[in-house]
Amino acid sequence: MTFDRSVKIAPSILSADFANFGKECEAIEAQGADWVHVDVMDGHFVPNITFGPDTCKAIRPHIKGVMDVHLMIAPVDPFIEAFAAAGADFITAHVEAGPHIHRTLQAIRASGAKAGVALNPGTPASALDSVMDMVDLVCVMTVNPGFGGQKFIPLEGKIAAIREMIGDREIHIEIDGGVTPVTAPGCVGAGADVLVAGSAVFKGGSVDNPEVYGENIRAIRNAI
Ligand code: DX5
Ligand code: ZN
Repeated sequence: MTFDRSVKIAPSILSADFANFGKECEAIEAQGADWVHVDVMDGHFVPNITFGPDTCKAIRPHIKGVMDVHLMIAPVDPFIEAFAAAGADFITAHVEAGPHIHRTLQAIRASGAKAGVALNPGTPASALDSVMDMVDLVCVMTVNPGFGGQKFIPLEGKIAAIREMIGDREIHIEIDGGVTPVTAPGCVGAGADVLVAGSAVFKGGSVDNPEVYGENIRAIRNAI
């Protein structure tokens, strides 16, 4: 997978039909999704529970492209191997999930997956100072993690600061939370190249009516 900074749309299956994950992954890819964003939540690091490695393993055959696994769990390290074995292309851990982000990122890369680090809205960009050469992706949370459909927290200044810190390193900047055709342009303008969108992509559609997913994806793409 060669690195390029062209804008990618990564629908989050948190907003998909939980009874039809495989079909939903196939539908969003057929309708133009670039990556599939998989939100893993443990009810401890965030106030919601979704699914784990076995669900990732089950949906992997239904995803042709990138499976982008966002771990909103603590601790992270005991589960890295399982998500890598499930076929995750990117495994992203929160810097707030524990005291040893350096060791976690080493373990993610050692597992064969690409390493991502996520920052909650209240965490400054400076938290990345010591790990910039250990990651392939920085995920900037623009909502407090746990749920889809929340209001976008404007953090374009933080995104621009992170873009500056990255320089010419091959590191993606992913925006996660409240991304819509209205909020996407500011994020891309500030330097983001991966846009996670759950409710903005899945709203109004279904596995029986996937064309709506395509319309929603195109609305974001046309806005940027
Ligand atoms: C929130 C998740 C996000 C969320 C995005 O904790 O990390 O990926 O699913 O959903 P929307 O796009 O609806 O804000
Ligand atoms: Zn996410």
